Amino acid sequence: MQRGSARLKVVVIGVGYLGATHAACMAELGFEVLGVDVDAEKVASLNQGRLPFYEPGLDTLLLQHVEGGEGSTGRLKFTASYEEAGRFGDLFFLCVNTPQLAGEFSADLRHLDAAVEALVPHLDRPCLVVGKSTVPVGTADRVAERIAAAAPAGAAAELAWNPEFLRESFAVQDTLHPDRLVAGVRSERAERLLREVYATPIAEGVPFLATDFATAELVKTAANSFLATKISFINAMAEMCESAGADVVRLSEALSYDERIGGKFLHAGLGFGGGCLPKDIRAFVARAGELGVGQALTFLREVDSINTRRRSRMVEMAREQCGALRGLRVAVLGASFKPDSDDIRDSPALDVAGQLQRQGAQVTVYDPKAMDNARKAYPALDYARSPLEAAEGARLVLHLTEWAQFRELDPAELGAVVAERHILDGRNVLDAAAWRAAGWTYRSMGRS
Ligand code: UGA
Repeated sequence: MQRGSARLKVVVIGVGYLGATHAACMAELGFEVLGVDVDAEKVASLNQGRLPFYEPGLDTLLLQHVEGGEGSTGRLKFTASYEEAGRFGDLFFLCVNTPQLAGEFSADLRHLDAAVEALVPHLDRPCLVVGKSTVPVGTADRVAERIAAAAPAGAAAELAWNPEFLRESFAVQDTLHPDRLVAGVRSERAERLLREVYATPIAEGVPFLATDFATAELVKTAANSFLATKISFINAMAEMCESAGADVVRLSEALSYDERIGGKFLHAGLGFGGGCLPKDIRAFVARAGELGVGQALTFLREVDSINTRRRSRMVEMAREQCGALRGLRVAVLGASFKPDSDDIRDSPALDVAGQLQRQGAQVTVYDPKAMDNARKAYPALDYARSPLEAAEGARLVLHLTEWAQFRELDPAELGAVVAERHILDGRNVLDAAAWRAAGWTYRSMGRS
């Protein structure tokens, strides 16, 4: 792999799912990297080569580069000190999270603003601050003004906006080999620095698009809105299929052969969750309203409600299958918002589990990686150590996150421990014929 310029030193601020991945990948690309976080526990854990969350392949990459690891390059370390970061870096990537504001649709920019305020007084030489967090359009302008006003005189600190498109569970691959690189820049120097830091993927042929700030910010929210719309489109078709007696899986397959439509993100089921798509479309709608073009994005409200309806539909299907929910023993397979992740933010699976429990069901959850996070967020649910343990005595099994492990379950083995053989497949991936052959009532979403 081509090595990054030894001259450039990279700081990554905020080392959660996005930042920790970016930091480790920058080290992999050959740069000296310092990750910064206000969470001292997270910093200590990362410095010891321990990843505080699950992301396939990232643990190995961390160990390969974190200082002190056996045979490691030592190019990667972490700190809680902005002063140290200011002394260290030439490029400062802002990777803090921008969650949904409590009780509102808009994004909460508190972490981003706090990071900028903490960093800027230490920028005393020419450098580039690069925003990666997902933000409402117009934020970069505001951050640039703040840097100009608060950086020490003569620092020549400049801003660029370089949105991140990585998917959790494919984060390393998506960072090292992205589909495209988008750079909102205001000078040739900023563009040159970003081209230098991304020299390896650019040499592989990854398209690099230099734009203004607003376009760069909008590309990100537009991409996530399109993906969410695609999922809600097929889920709206699933609603049609359910009432018309059709099969959304076959419908989706037939659509996918049209290259203009394509088959990706056309998988009907329980819908989307996670720390990104749901809050990003809401923040986009809120921002459009502020800019006086709310009507342009009203369709995203519908995208959101189609998605939320999938969750209540699953609860309804449970009731249809077993009658009253009070006292019903339910096994829930899956807690993370998607497979190969321990992230439970806005998880459809846990939302459904929580709704059932609040309506009186006795719910036991199993997930291969997200148990600790789920337990903290949903303490009223019961948790099991295996799918079999979760299913013991259950009158209903719900398959809500499509981990490969669940596809491989033996319907006969599970059938031997449940009280009644009813399974609802919220992800449309289990082998219906095999489950039915083992005596189960198998139902899924969008298929009669
Ligand atoms: C999403 C985008 O895909 C990334 O490009 C973006 O960078 C990221 O948000 C972000 O803004 O940081 P991610 O949240 O990791 O990535 O997850 P996705 O793979 O997009 O899946 C989102 C949800 O949609 C999951 O709950 C998944 O189960 C669901 N989904 C996905 C469906 O219900 N149907 C599909 O066909 C595809």
